[in-house]
Amino acid sequence: MSGEAPEAPIVLEDVSYTYGKGALKKQILFNISTSVKPGEIIILTGPSGSGKTTLLTMMGALRSAQEGSVRVLGQELKAAKRRTQMKVRRQIGFIFQSHNLLDSLTISQNVKMALQLNKVKGGEGKERIKTVLERVGLGDHLHKYPDQLSGGQKQRAGIARALVNRPRVVLADEPTASLDKQSGRDVVELIQELAREEGTAVVLVTHDNRILDVADRILHLEDGHVKSLTEAVSEGTSRMLNLLEKHDPSSASYLATFAFALARVAYADNEVTQDEQDAMRRILKELANLKDSEVDFIMEMSMMQKRAQAEISGSAEIGGFEGERQQLLVDSLYAIAEADGRVSEEEKQEIHAIIAEFGLEDSSQR
Ligand SMILES: Nc1ncnc2c1ncn2[C@@H]1O[C@H](COP(=O)(O)OP(=O)(O)OP(=O)(O)O)[C@@H](O)[C@H]1O
Ligand SMILES: [Mg+2]
Repeated sequence: MSGEAPEAPIVLEDVSYTYGKGALKKQILFNISTSVKPGEIIILTGPSGSGKTTLLTMMGALRSAQEGSVRVLGQELKAAKRRTQMKVRRQIGFIFQSHNLLDSLTISQNVKMALQLNKVKGGEGKERIKTVLERVGLGDHLHKYPDQLSGGQKQRAGIARALVNRPRVVLADEPTASLDKQSGRDVVELIQELAREEGTAVVLVTHDNRILDVADRILHLEDGHVKSLTEAVSEGTSRMLNLLEKHDPSSASYLATFAFALARVAYADNEVTQDEQDAMRRILKELANLKDSEVDFIMEMSMMQKRAQAEISGSAEIGGFEGERQQLLVDSLYAIAEADGRVSEEEKQEIHAIIAEFGLEDSSQR
């Protein structure tokens, strides 16, 4: 035995992909290299048509790589035979936007089908089906039919079906697209928990910026090229500043910095709770005369900026923090930290760091 660590479940090297032939040829992916480790969650983002689904289907052995190397669970998929593709596919948990349940089967029978594909039968199978459905919160709905469940419940049944074989790789294409905000959040948190517990490698395509924080890493595609998150964020940030500029030119950079400072505190303990998000939204709404969608946008951007912080060199321009505004920021930082009931040590440290960096006065001396 060599002492080398085993290869990551997904390894892409210099992958390119072209649709069509002859005059209709169109290259969609350009030299993509990345890998996904056990227990790691990668979120794949990017505009519509940027190649996310194409890339995901290559990882899922649903489409053959033409150039470069795609290795999934130790198998090279470039020019792979059908049998190899099938074998790899069976070891992957797929979660799609539409749940793809069979309406004529109960939830438990739907999950059972996935299990039978892998030849698990009898008592062990029954137990596994029950456990996985309980795990996704459907323990009381085993014998219901899909049309007796809500959209979120159906999506969770789809997750149970994807996970019943305890796959080492889970690929999800817009799993929250048909869900309301809370069910969407629940679904990704569930995927996250399972990934952590079982050491599953997860790649999740989403347009939903509200769930980016579950990612260990964000892969941003534009026109088939991987773009750094920093580039994407700085573009988004200038879009945000333009938007703010329209509303209140003098406040633009103030608001942007304000939102970012709030995001830093919310992230201080590495977890942003719903309460913290609600508090941020409330504070930002009171601060500026913005529509809900604009407040959401600013929040998303500041969260992304926070996530990308490690990549960004130098800190944001600080502007417009005089007098009352200083105390307002300090109070707001504490409000975010307190939103979930208590101010943690990490949150307190982050607040003090911001106060020091921004040269703020904290007259309350907390
Ligand atoms: N079967 C196909 N034949 C030819 N072109 C295709 C095919 N499937 C996708 N494309 C093209 O490839 C590009 C990337 O498509 P893809 O579905 O990967 O994008 P996406 O990032 O998943 O977009 P969305 O966010 O809208 O789902 C698009 O320009 C699309 O029109
Ligand atoms: Mg797609």
